[in-house]
Amino acid sequence: MANVARMLRRMVRTTGFDVVRVPAARAGTPRSAAGTGELSPGCAVDCFPGDATFAPYNPWPIPPDLGSSTTPWARVLLELYRARGSWPACVSPEVGMFIHAFVRNLRPRIVVETGTCHGASTIWIASALIANDAGATAGSAASVIHTFDDFSLPSNPAISNLSLYTERERLVRERFESAGVADRIRIHKGDSSTGIIAQREAFDRAGGVQLAFIDGDHSPEGARRDFLAVEPTLNIGGFILLHDVWPAICGCSGPRWLADNIHSVGSGTYQVCDFYTAPLNYGLTILRRLA
Ligand SMILES: C[S@@+](CC[C@H](N)C(=O)[O-])C[C@H]1O[C@@H](n2cnc3c(N)ncnc32)[C@H](O)[C@@H]1O
Repeated sequence: MANVARMLRRMVRTTGFDVVRVPAARAGTPRSAAGTGELSPGCAVDCFPGDATFAPYNPWPIPPDLGSSTTPWARVLLELYRARGSWPACVSPEVGMFIHAFVRNLRPRIVVETGTCHGASTIWIASALIANDAGATAGSAASVIHTFDDFSLPSNPAISNLSLYTERERLVRERFESAGVADRIRIHKGDSSTGIIAQREAFDRAGGVQLAFIDGDHSPEGARRDFLAVEPTLNIGGFILLHDVWPAICGCSGPRWLADNIHSVGSGTYQVCDFYTAPLNYGLTILRRLA
């Protein structure tokens, strides 16, 4: 039986398709996304539930490996994660660790981020860029992250009245200085897609973008605009990370919509991989540009 299945799979693969058996626990009808009327493909809810004990706007639980770190950037992140309101705005510490490790391995020269917010993901990325450059030959250009945010106040007063949001831009700049990562970060204030388009020629001259983290406007139109702004300068082999891709859990539909429609929205060709994230499983999608 196994031999027949292997033979069938080999035959199908020669046509450019593949056959993958979906375990019974993961197969089934996709769930309807909360309030969006759209479908959330995959099985994020059933297969990997978020932690339902989270109370709104409380600090994130700190994993011990971050809690025990003594580097200045980790201490700044710790302080941020302990602040009321860091959830749900910031990436979780675990997602931050994932992105940090991703950057350590990819070694991008130019990273674009939409959605600076309080600077958590920016610090995770910038600290990885610094580590990457530690052994670089003298005279080579330092790798940088360009981060875009309009720094507008959220409409929900339960959030905008939190001290984390008052003078957000000043606090973010101070955070980058205290973390020792400010020289790797270029902050662009204003609408993200407009800002990226304005910088695109400069990115092209510097060799293009190898990694973009799209985490700004979470509506389908906003995610689409950010993606289309960066795509012309994204290298072949470059990556785009989308955050908050399980609408039924995170409550926004733009990143999921973009992941599902990438081949009609973009002019490039992409490999798409959805990724579960702890502890709340808002999810990541990894897009790798093939052509
Ligand atoms: C979820 S937060 C980003 C979180 C951040 N990446 C982190 O994990 O630490 C989204 C941010 O996008 C910003 N934003 C939303 N729409 C935007 C737009 N059109 N242009 C620029 N920034 C925008 C918001 O002000 C907010 O700070």
